[in-house]
Amino acid sequence: MDLLFADEQMAMETLGSNFDRLANSIDRIANSTAFNHQAQQVRAVELGGGPGLISMYLLACRRYAFCEVIDRALQPLEIGKKWAAELGLANISFRQASYADLHASGTSDFDFAFAEHALDLGLDSENGLNPLELPRSPVVPAMYLQLVGAMHQILKPNGCGLIGAGTATPSALVALCAALRANQLAIDWRLTLNRDGLQLYVRPNGPILFDSTEDEGLAILADALSEHKMPPAEGRSLQRIFSSGTKYFEITSENEDTRFTCAIFQAAGLAYLFQWNSKGYEAATIFSAAKLIAWSDNGLRDAKDRRIIHRFVDPRLSPFLTL
Ligand SMILES: C[S@@+](CC[C@H](N)C(=O)[O-])C[C@H]1O[C@@H](n2cnc3c(N)ncnc32)[C@H](O)[C@@H]1O
Repeated sequence: MDLLFADEQMAMETLGSNFDRLANSIDRIANSTAFNHQAQQVRAVELGGGPGLISMYLLACRRYAFCEVIDRALQPLEIGKKWAAELGLANISFRQASYADLHASGTSDFDFAFAEHALDLGLDSENGLNPLELPRSPVVPAMYLQLVGAMHQILKPNGCGLIGAGTATPSALVALCAALRANQLAIDWRLTLNRDGLQLYVRPNGPILFDSTEDEGLAILADALSEHKMPPAEGRSLQRIFSSGTKYFEITSENEDTRFTCAIFQAAGLAYLFQWNSKGYEAATIFSAAKLIAWSDNGLRDAKDRRIIHRFVDPRLSPFLTL
C-alpha cells in the first residue's frame, strides 16, 4: 500500500483505477440506515481505510460528527491527511495502527466502525481455506480474528459495525461468521445484505439467531438470490425436507369460515415458507434464511386482523419481531 501511495500522483492513479468500486462503497455507506435519527452525533471509525476517502465524503455531506481513519500503512494516511486539510475538513483524524494493535489496546470510543474491502474474502487459497469444505469449526484466518477483534474492542456497547466487501466465497463467509462469534459480535439480520456486494452489519453482544456459524455464512451467501415461489407439488416435497430443519415460526388464524396457517422452517442457508388455508389455497416459497425476520413479520402482519388460534415463535426470533 505504501508503494501505491508513494506520492499524490500515484495515489490518484491507484484510486482512479478503483473508481467504480469506491463510488459504490461510498454510496452504500452514506445511505446506510444504521443511524437514521442520531447520525449527527455518530463518532465513526474507518478500519483499513487507506487515505480515508469514504470518511472524507461522509464528513463533507455532514453524515456523521467525527471520523477516524485507521490503517497500518503510513503513506495513504499521510496523503489522506493532506487532502482532508485542503478540503477544510476539521472533524477527521488519521492513525497508523494494525487490526492486531487495536484488538490488543483499542478503547471503546466509537458508535460506528466500518471496514470496507479491508479483508480478503474472495481468495480461499491465500487465506488457507478449503473452497470445497465448510467445517463446523473452521480454521479462521488470523486477519479475520484481528479485524473482528479490533471492531469489538473499539465499539461502544450499543455501537454498530459494518464489514463490506465485493464477492465473498462460502468458506470465507463461514470463517468470518466464526470469527464474529468468537468475538461476541452478533450479526444484525435487519441490516445485513449480500446484494451488490456484501454488507455485513454486527452488534456487540447482540442476540444470536442461528444454531451455527455455518448456517449464518450460508444464509448470507443465499441472500444474493431472489425468493423462489413454487407450485404446491414441489412445495410439498420440500416441506418434508425442511421440516427436519428448525421451525422458527408458525401461526394459525381464522375468520368466519376459513382457517389459515403460515409456517417458516430453516435449514442451512435457506428458509421455507408454507401457506395454507381451509378453502384449498396452498403456496410455498424458498428464500434466504437471512430474511427470516422480515418474512416472519409479514406472517404476523397478515394474520393480525383475524382471530389467532395458535402462535409459535422460536425464542431466538422473538426479540427481532416488530409485532
Ligand atoms: C483494499 S484497501 C481498502 C481501503 C479503503 N477501505 C477502501 O475501501 O478503499 C485495504 C486497506 O486495508 C489495510 N490493511 C490491511 N491489513 C491491515 C491490518 N492488518 N491492519 C490495518 N490495516 C490493514 C491496507 O493497508 C489497505 O489500506
